[in-house]
Amino acid sequence: MSDPIAAASGILIRPLTPTIGAEVLGVDLADLTDAEFALIQQALTEHQVIFFRDQDISVDALKAFGARFGTLDVHPNDPGLEGHPEVMMIHADEKSKRVAGEMWHSDVSCSNEPPMGSILRMFQVPESGGDTLFASMYAAYEALSERMKVMLDGLTAMHDGGPYYRAVNQIIGRDDGGRSYPTAVHPVVRTHPASGRKCLYVNSMFTTQILGVPVAESDALLAFLFDHVKNPQFQCRFRWEQHSVAFWDNRCSQHYAVWDYFPHVRSGYRVTVRGEQPLA
Ligand code: SIN
Repeated sequence: MSDPIAAASGILIRPLTPTIGAEVLGVDLADLTDAEFALIQQALTEHQVIFFRDQDISVDALKAFGARFGTLDVHPNDPGLEGHPEVMMIHADEKSKRVAGEMWHSDVSCSNEPPMGSILRMFQVPESGGDTLFASMYAAYEALSERMKVMLDGLTAMHDGGPYYRAVNQIIGRDDGGRSYPTAVHPVVRTHPASGRKCLYVNSMFTTQILGVPVAESDALLAFLFDHVKNPQFQCRFRWEQHSVAFWDNRCSQHYAVWDYFPHVRSGYRVTVRGEQPLA
């Protein structure tokens, strides 16, 4: 089903699933009109992650596209591309010991103002594999029983960047010089500022503890929720091509990058757009 306004402007929005994900066809991200920009914003709010094909755009054009949505963030543990600290290189090859994002997560949720969105432009892909999975945290929240919703609504959780980023640095042999990483307390169930819908906001990469309940209860609840968000009913799966772009809303989705293509090469550039403090 395509949006009539989008269709009138030559843009086609093709949902991947009824729950999450849509392809946006008929735009050039390096040369967007204001009307196209507004439609993209609307499509992101509606579908939580949107995909574009054949966007052979420069690093500067990717940054300019991201900057239309807000301030670009610098990653707390990634040195960034030379001369472009806001651009994170996503790269894996035959020498890689790990890849970015190989577990369910919402980007940098350990920040006090976590990124609203991330935009990844892929310029080299393996012949097969290397897909990214996206899961709707609206669907994950809505699938909970009313009793569980009542229990979780109003709780907060600690998000800590230290354990994950230090583990990454250890695996790749990067000396972090004893630096400290962001921590933040966020609602377990947040309300999306654009859609007004409630969604789950805990993830296995950064959420370490639900506050205000005994540790044993927090551990059990988090184990349940980390498992719950993996339900295929909440997901879509994106097959990358060279020059594909994915733009995901970190506030209401999680993603998982599948590393099933070793020793082949997969490379792209990612920018993240700063968000706001999550509200219950
Ligand atoms: C990430 O940003 O978490 C990595 C996503 C990907 O490589 O598909």
